[in-house]
Amino acid sequence: MLIGQPTYFFESIDSTNVYAAELISNKKPVAGTVIDTAHQTHGHGQKDRRWWSPAGVNITLSLILRPEWLAIERQFLLNVMTSLAITRTIQEYTSKKVEIKWPNDVYVEGKKISGILIQNGIQGKKIQYSILGIGLNVNQRIWPDDVQNPTSVSLASKAEIDITQVKQKLFSNLEIEHHVIQSEPDTAIERYVDLLYKKDILTTFYLGQEEVQGVIKTIDGFGRLIIETGQGSRTFNLGEISFSNDEIIT
Ligand code: BTN
Repeated sequence: MLIGQPTYFFESIDSTNVYAAELISNKKPVAGTVIDTAHQTHGHGQKDRRWWSPAGVNITLSLILRPEWLAIERQFLLNVMTSLAITRTIQEYTSKKVEIKWPNDVYVEGKKISGILIQNGIQGKKIQYSILGIGLNVNQRIWPDDVQNPTSVSLASKAEIDITQVKQKLFSNLEIEHHVIQSEPDTAIERYVDLLYKKDILTTFYLGQEEVQGVIKTIDGFGRLIIETGQGSRTFNLGEISFSNDEIIT
């Protein structure tokens, strides 16, 4: 499989994830197919949020995979693969610390630089397809006031960035990490855990309105987050916990 072959490029499109889903139901796109756009008019984020990105300055694309080899219980490896590839790509431009906010946001020095929206098509016990939607801020330098704590590759590296070059590096890192989650998943998980935002730091989490003090330690075999609290170790699923009381981690 070669990532980006083929690539469908659009000057403007509603959402690359939506287009990828349509392509999957109408045609049979091969693994590696990328839907890429310079401008998304209705980009989706996690939890029905929107993903805003001005025309021509950032990366907004979706990669189609056909991970039939992957057990459903291990689908979090797709989050691991994508967030590691993005992290590795950004780290090629900055010496600042790039981290993964569980399960799959990418942060530079506490600011969000990239978001991932993964949509899996499951039939029986098989993952028929996976759409890996990636939003990566590249040359954006200003945001509307309601966007919390954003940053970009350009701000992190203090330079104007060649988006095509970032995309090439991203594709090659996705290819590498895709190979790693198949051949030696434990090493990918180890690197992912090492990069977890707030790992080993006492942090306040919210379970709904309940405040919990704890320390992120690792993930379990299903990708759930393990936090050490005063009452011992607790395991959290997606959507159960947030870092602040207005944001549920999805
Ligand atoms: C998030 O942080 O909430 C996830 C954001 C994911 C945004 C990307 S941009 C390309 C792809 N198409 C979409 O509509 N969303 C994803």
